Amino acid sequence: MATKKINIKPANGKLGILTPGMGAVATTFISGVLAARKELALPIGSLTQMGTIRLGKRTEPRNPIIKDFVPLADLDDIVFGGWDVFSDNVYEAAIQANVLDRTLVEALRPELEQIAPMKAVFDKAYVRNLDGTHIKTGDTKMELAEQLMEDIRRFRETNNCDRLVMVWCASTEAFSEPTGAHQNLEDFEEGLRNNDPHIAPSMIYAYAALKMGVPFANGAPNLTCDIPAIVELAHQMQVPIGGKDFKTGQTLMKTIVAPGLHARALGVRGWFSSNILGNRDGAVLDAPENFKTKEVSKGHVLDGIFNPELQPDLYGDIYHKIRINYYPPHGDNKESWDNIDIFGWLGYPMQIKINFLCRDSILAAPIVLDLALLLDFAQRAGLRGIQEWLAFYFKAPQTAPGLPPQHDIFKQLSKLENTLRYLMGEDLITHLGMDYYEELEKEYAALLQADA
Ligand SMILES: NC(=O)c1ccc[n+]([C@@H]2O[C@H](COP(=O)([O-])OP(=O)(O)OC[C@H]3O[C@@H](n4cnc5c(N)ncnc54)[C@H](O)[C@@H]3O)[C@@H](O)[C@H]2O)c1
Repeated sequence: MATKKINIKPANGKLGILTPGMGAVATTFISGVLAARKELALPIGSLTQMGTIRLGKRTEPRNPIIKDFVPLADLDDIVFGGWDVFSDNVYEAAIQANVLDRTLVEALRPELEQIAPMKAVFDKAYVRNLDGTHIKTGDTKMELAEQLMEDIRRFRETNNCDRLVMVWCASTEAFSEPTGAHQNLEDFEEGLRNNDPHIAPSMIYAYAALKMGVPFANGAPNLTCDIPAIVELAHQMQVPIGGKDFKTGQTLMKTIVAPGLHARALGVRGWFSSNILGNRDGAVLDAPENFKTKEVSKGHVLDGIFNPELQPDLYGDIYHKIRINYYPPHGDNKESWDNIDIFGWLGYPMQIKINFLCRDSILAAPIVLDLALLLDFAQRAGLRGIQEWLAFYFKAPQTAPGLPPQHDIFKQLSKLENTLRYLMGEDLITHLGMDYYEELEKEYAALLQADA
């Protein structure tokens, strides 16, 4: 199916990427982009920088790297900024996070030291296991939002940025559900003025970003931009948003393996997922109210892939359990175990065991980069509101109200690729491929006629 090319503004000038939270993920992301810029390492895991996209027919040799197909900001044109409840600059924070080799961090030290966090909007009620001091004060939440907007304005001017994007890389907030103040923009703004306790710091950042016309992505499982008031603001300001919770580690594996079992109509009786991690994220998740936020975000993945109501004989009775345990000796190197009880022909049981020794921030950093580049691209292409085609990057993808999220990573990739093809005026790829065989038929028919 041919599509019409959309008018996309060019990626001229500098792109500022702002991260509320400058901990393990953000510092690994920033260091990685700087390292790639200096050609010290490759941006592996970033689909935009390393992934190819097929264009046209399978017989055409057109498989460009995504960044060479879509007009994305160049890595050389990115500047970094953010907020944290600790005042450490990015060099100090990267050393503290202890994700990257010391030699690499030292090689980047002059640039990393230049990036210092701005004072955070913080509320201990949402993250009780953190005690930061680098925090804004203000009488109302609206005042705090205005201070964030002033930060954004100043950052844009000082760094001579053409465009900005914000990606939430701060700690997971305590579990909350949408309430009255979240339902529409008017009530939300009233809540900001009245210090409504249901308005979390992450929502104040999202509000400030959108008011400034800055696209926003949520890398943690908190509600943040996944509430009607913020979606309304995104439409009003014509800004794209996306969330939530970077899809890394165990959930990444789950959304790779589960679609394969489902594709072969193999049954699943149980899926026990356990993991240990020892970074600051793990310490925050050690509080039950913060763990609940994560548990809920991870919990819907299997239902979304197996759709038990459609195939109750295969998936109607899955026991799905997730455990996250804080284990400091492992630091950022998370270890996960999955025990999967499956059954096949005539109900015979089998088991799969997965032991993933992953590095949390190494998997998350390229997602921050891709989300920032693709949201900036979406903004220049005139897209606004929820960007479901970016579900590929999230554990709990945000969708239009009433629409079930797509969790199967291969379907998510196909949607992302087709969205890029569509925006760039290329044919969508259905993988039907009948036309190749219709041509063969014609060739055989011609051969038969020639033989006759
Ligand atoms: N690493 C992964 O694989 C992964 C995957 C999915 C989601 N996440 C989420 O990404 C987020 C960051 O993870 P991390 O490993 O970098 O954690 P981290 O604890 O190393 O960093 C988070 C930083 O946010 C800061 N912070 C907390 N509240 C803040 C606020 N209100 N404003 C500004 N800064 C604030 C903390 O001081 C800390 O420095 C977490 O919410 C985590 O759950 C990570």
